[in-house]
Amino acid sequence: MPKKEILIYPDKVLKSRAHEVDNIDLDIVSLAEDMRHTMHTAPGVGLAAPQVGASMRLVLVDPSAGKEESQLVVLINPVIVEKEGVETDSEMCLSVPETSVDVDRASRILVTGIDLKGNEVRMEAEGYLARIFQHEIDHLDGKVILDYASSLKRSIYLKKRKKGTL
Ligand code: NI
Repeated sequence: MPKKEILIYPDKVLKSRAHEVDNIDLDIVSLAEDMRHTMHTAPGVGLAAPQVGASMRLVLVDPSAGKEESQLVVLINPVIVEKEGVETDSEMCLSVPETSVDVDRASRILVTGIDLKGNEVRMEAEGYLARIFQHEIDHLDGKVILDYASSLKRSIYLKKRKKGTL
């Protein structure tokens, strides 16, 4: 089970809109499996395909960070169809090392998509789980937590990254 390298912002794959998946083939299944391994090794609670260099609309979400297998959700072409409420909390990202940013997120969402067997999925999420979904789906639209940060914070990050200290 190969572990994938996680791309670090500002890699251009992380800044691009990812493509819809129109065929669930063995490549997607094996990519999802590699991503699960990569996410749990990191460890992280979510991972989007662009973070491992695949410009595809595929996300993994696991609020237990690998502790409870039943909590893993793999979602293809996810869309947030309803949003309610707002909560602010700090977030981190495996692609934006040593940085946390306060981000406003909807406190409750309804998300749709397709699972690895091709079944349509419709699920409600709230609180932390809703936050992880919104963070991962942002990755599919080329958006990262630094896009919610002040321009000062962003430029400090980019300078450190350029110097190689991140
Ligand atoms: Ni992230």
